[in-house]
Amino acid sequence: MIPEDGESKPPEGASSLRTEVRPLVRLGILLSGRGSNFQAIAKSIRDGRLKGVEIAVVISNVGEAAGISTAQQLGLPHEVLVSKGRARAEHDADVVRRLREHRADLVCLAGYMRLLSPEFISAFPNRILNIHPSLLPAFPGLDAQQQAFDYGVKWAGCTVHFVDEHLDHGTIILQRAIPVLDDDDAHSLAERILAEEHIAYGEAIARVVSGAWEIRGRRYVKR
Ligand code: GRF
Repeated sequence: MIPEDGESKPPEGASSLRTEVRPLVRLGILLSGRGSNFQAIAKSIRDGRLKGVEIAVVISNVGEAAGISTAQQLGLPHEVLVSKGRARAEHDADVVRRLREHRADLVCLAGYMRLLSPEFISAFPNRILNIHPSLLPAFPGLDAQQQAFDYGVKWAGCTVHFVDEHLDHGTIILQRAIPVLDDDDAHSLAERILAEEHIAYGEAIARVVSGAWEIRGRRYVKR
């Protein structure tokens, strides 16, 4: 171990041998359903492709969300906080409290079908990510893949962005685009976009936890 006092100097060249022990960034995953993006994130961590992070907790606002069963199978901390019938501010305050109790640093919305209250957003400034299955700002909201298909776009894709108080609106971290094929239907297009989502979310998390970025205006740029 290298002493911390400035007096004793490590031998020449020793600095290159130093392994900095950085604490893992703890992810709080919020979902409402299937949970395939959560599963992709968990797999990337387990396979060592997404480094420096761990999953602190998976929280669903829907009792029967398949993603919660997956979290259970993977042995990850998980909770259900049912939102139905509750005021947004009240429910969000509970979610924020549980995220804090699990010491989550970064919140990842992974098919979380709720708008967040301003209080929730300010509890994690630039620390809440969302994935959306379109090339924003095109086709925000529900059924984005169907919207894109019906519009007749030639390129579709997904966006990972910081969350602000507007729907599918915050600063874009990254996008992945795919061509729409002549023989696609909305279903095949959605499936191919989902495959891109599973790559994009892990990449975006890695970029954010690297800390080598800044936001200029609406732009996320590397430092
Ligand atoms: C994904 O298409 C995501 O982009 C959107 O909701 C869907 C969630 O899918 N926000 P899953 O639950 O991650 O499988």
